[in-house]
Amino acid sequence: MTQRTLSIIKPDAVEARKTGAIVSRLEEEGFKVVAMKRIHLTRAQAEGFYAEHKGRGFFDELCTFMSRGPIVVMALEREDAVAKYREVIGATDPAKAAAGTIRKLYGSNVGENAVHGSDKPETAVREIGYFFAGFEV
Ligand code: CMP
Repeated sequence: MTQRTLSIIKPDAVEARKTGAIVSRLEEEGFKVVAMKRIHLTRAQAEGFYAEHKGRGFFDELCTFMSRGPIVVMALEREDAVAKYREVIGATDPAKAAAGTIRKLYGSNVGENAVHGSDKPETAVREIGYFFAGFEV
């Protein structure tokens, strides 16, 4: 079934000028970029996006990191997009990610791990709605 997922290229990967390489890889993997923009989140906007993690030990560090520089957010579409995207990016911790995955290639550690992806289809709908207005996607 055709499905959508939200992708974020995080500040570490944007700073390292890996945006093009990552978008290119995703297109090669069969994803269609149905919406894309480069934005610099405020801390409050980062906190809003990661609200479900509020109260966890890494929340503060995560929001500081996600608002330290520009990110590139995309709505991606393909067959089984959520699961396939998670396969292509690899495990949250780049050290545990499989060879050739985006996080293995471009991530540094569990915090600075190059990309974000929605964890399930319902989350994808909410996350795409957080960044894109209805007429944009
Ligand atoms: P992401 O997919 O963006 O969703 C939540 C993020 O929290 C996760 O990727 C990690 O980058 C970040 N994070 C930082 N520290 C941890 C941790 N100890 N465990 C899980 N996630 C963490």
